Amino acid sequence: MNTFKNKILLCFTFVLFFVFNITFAQQYDFVARSFKTAEPLYQNLLTKTKGNFVDYPHSLYENGEIKYLQIDEWTGGFWPGALWYMYEYTKDNKWKEAALAWTNSLESNQYNTSHHDIGFMMYCSYGNALRFVNDERYPKILLQSAKSLCQRYSPVVGSIQSWNKRKSKGDINTWEYPVIMDNMMNLELLFYASKISGDTSYKHIAIKHAEQTMKNHLRSDYSSYHVVNYDPKTGEVLHKQTLQGFSDQSTWARGQAWGIYGFTTVYRETKDKRFLETAIKMADFFLEHPNLPTDKIPYWDFNVGQKGFNPDWKYQPNKYQQIPRDASAAAIASSGLLELSTMLKGELKQKYYNAALAMLKSLGSDSYLNTDKQNPYFLLKHSTGNFPSDREIDVPLIYADYYYLEALLRYRKMKNS
Ligand code: GLY
Repeated sequence: MNTFKNKILLCFTFVLFFVFNITFAQQYDFVARSFKTAEPLYQNLLTKTKGNFVDYPHSLYENGEIKYLQIDEWTGGFWPGALWYMYEYTKDNKWKEAALAWTNSLESNQYNTSHHDIGFMMYCSYGNALRFVNDERYPKILLQSAKSLCQRYSPVVGSIQSWNKRKSKGDINTWEYPVIMDNMMNLELLFYASKISGDTSYKHIAIKHAEQTMKNHLRSDYSSYHVVNYDPKTGEVLHKQTLQGFSDQSTWARGQAWGIYGFTTVYRETKDKRFLETAIKMADFFLEHPNLPTDKIPYWDFNVGQKGFNPDWKYQPNKYQQIPRDASAAAIASSGLLELSTMLKGELKQKYYNAALAMLKSLGSDSYLNTDKQNPYFLLKHSTGNFPSDREIDVPLIYADYYYLEALLRYRKMKNS
């Protein structure tokens, strides 16, 4: 009888232990928790934008209203991209249908030559769509998008022009041919175009652009300038400045993150060690910087308010109790670092993997994840879009969500393989 009782007790303990472990794991599995948090938020966004394929969710205004951008602006591809990631994780057709509809809404952008952002817009949407649907129109649309991007390339400068001619911050000078660090993110589209068309000119443009960025956007410590302005007639570098960073000599956190991610992509596509070394050194600058907070979510710029860094705009140090963070920079960096870790061995591999994981755990905590429904629509809190222009400070941003979801899926794949 006693043996029978003992067996029942043992079974009961085992079941309890099992149930407890599952509950514990679910609660502390930040991947599952993040996607679970995203579902009702993105459902709200879908409901809010129902039948509307012209207003692309971007951020929030101070009054809590959604800030939308239009089809020709840079962030249109992130909402469909985030929906593709929701589908990838949940396999729920609801997300696939929405992702398809929003992706297809961007079709006319394939001819957009008004700025460099077509890579973001089309590769985050159609590039992801290709992984799930076999639509023969999509490679053609992406190829045309690559052609449009290349129209902004000058062989004299050896770079793709990011923005049209414009004044610098504070109207100090005119940028005739501005190229920004962010542009590294558009190159993946060009590598893809060469692969599907067999025309190597796209990838040669991407490589030349990456080489010029390596040469002119980086300082000796592998921190980065945001903007380099070239003379379009001679290719000479005229100015090294910033638009979204604290000052010309400072390091804008998101710019550094774009560089880590972008050079990692170019190394994947070329296997040229110079690009790997650049990605590593940019990552080291980011991760080893004394101003990186312990949760590894950077301030919006690494040098805010520091001596020797003089902004061309009026900085009011007391306006915010604490220097605002940029969760988007951490999301982009963590996704890039995860891929970077796959290209390395031993201690270095572990170093970037662990750093990415630490960032993801921070982003997946209540401090950054919108578990308290601070707003009804976006997943991550605490990003900064453009501090010097007093825009999008300590807000959600759709691209922070996009790169966070991408990083979570990358992490899950690496963990399971
Ligand atoms: N590419 C624009 C930004 O990072 O704000």
